[in-house]
Amino acid sequence: MKLFIPGPVQVSEKTFAAFCKPMMGHRSGDFKKLYGGMQPLLQELFQTKQPVFLSTSSAWGVMEGAVRNLVGSGKVLNCMCGAFSDKWLDVSKRCGKDAVALQVEWGQPVRGEQVRAHLEKGGFEAVTLIHNETSTGVMSPLAEIAEVLRDFPEVRLVVDSVSSFSVVPIPMDELGIDVLLTGSQKALAMPPGLALFAASQRAMERAAAVQGRGYYFDFIEFQKNQAEDMTPSTPSISHFYALASKLEDIFAEGVAARHARHAKTNAMVHDWVRRHGFDFFAPEGYRSKSLTCVANTRDIDVAALLSNLKSRHGFIIDGGYGKLKGKTFRLSNMGDETEADIAELLAALDDCLKA
Ligand SMILES: Cc1ncc(COP(=O)(O)O)c(C=O)c1O
Repeated sequence: MKLFIPGPVQVSEKTFAAFCKPMMGHRSGDFKKLYGGMQPLLQELFQTKQPVFLSTSSAWGVMEGAVRNLVGSGKVLNCMCGAFSDKWLDVSKRCGKDAVALQVEWGQPVRGEQVRAHLEKGGFEAVTLIHNETSTGVMSPLAEIAEVLRDFPEVRLVVDSVSSFSVVPIPMDELGIDVLLTGSQKALAMPPGLALFAASQRAMERAAAVQGRGYYFDFIEFQKNQAEDMTPSTPSISHFYALASKLEDIFAEGVAARHARHAKTNAMVHDWVRRHGFDFFAPEGYRSKSLTCVANTRDIDVAALLSNLKSRHGFIIDGGYGKLKGKTFRLSNMGDETEADIAELLAALDDCLKA
């Protein structure tokens, strides 16, 4: 079976082989060498001068952690435009925070002026934003929103780049992003279970002053331990090996070439959508580069398409997230997928649609 769902995605033999290396002590010199050795490449990938922290959790651990670390008694604005961003409001509330919803219709992006209108009401300490809403295939205009945040220096910007990291450039320091986080199982094409994040100095200062950060996702603990090339608790060492191997691949390909490959494979899917009389769920200009959320305007039987693709070709796609099930289907081009892989997927889709 080959995965073309928007995460987890296909993991290469090389990455799996790295994942299976023998264990070592997480306070050992060998571990420090492994983690410390990855730091410059991780910083380059994050486009930051700040250290990059690794957390043995899925992205939600750090998404929740960011709220707990950056929001004290003030308000947090949760930008919502799909399943994952909507859930961040609930997570903020469960953390006991004064969470405010900026809800836009599923399928639409969050816009800078909408963020400004909320922040002008005052009392906000942080904004959460999902750059690429995986459930709807919408990429919100990050630079535009980051620009708005410059007028509110007391507000920290937390950006989830779970399904856009290493797909498009995200210049963290240049945009003034305070926390940039991602997960291992999307475009990094690793097994799930590792979250990567970096935090600005301003974010760390805020964290130091906030009560109730807990332990497992306490950013200050990450900072203290990273200074010695370690993690607060025993990490999934296998993920560290796999990440080191993946970084080798990414820099061998070239980061810009990786972005260009994603743009190309994404365009191939878009072309297929247009040629087959379907539509896009996301509006022009705000479409994800890592996946395509296809609007089922032809009213095909999506469940049958999924089933045929699996049985005839061994390919797995997604039949629409939550309330979009059947009304959309999602085709992923994230990770290691080449033009040849995507051409194969599209040919298989053609075959199944004919059938
Ligand atoms: C944009 C986005 N954010 C967050 C998550 C949650 O990631 P995880 O389930 O790995 O914690 C996902 C999962 O698909 C996602 O697509």
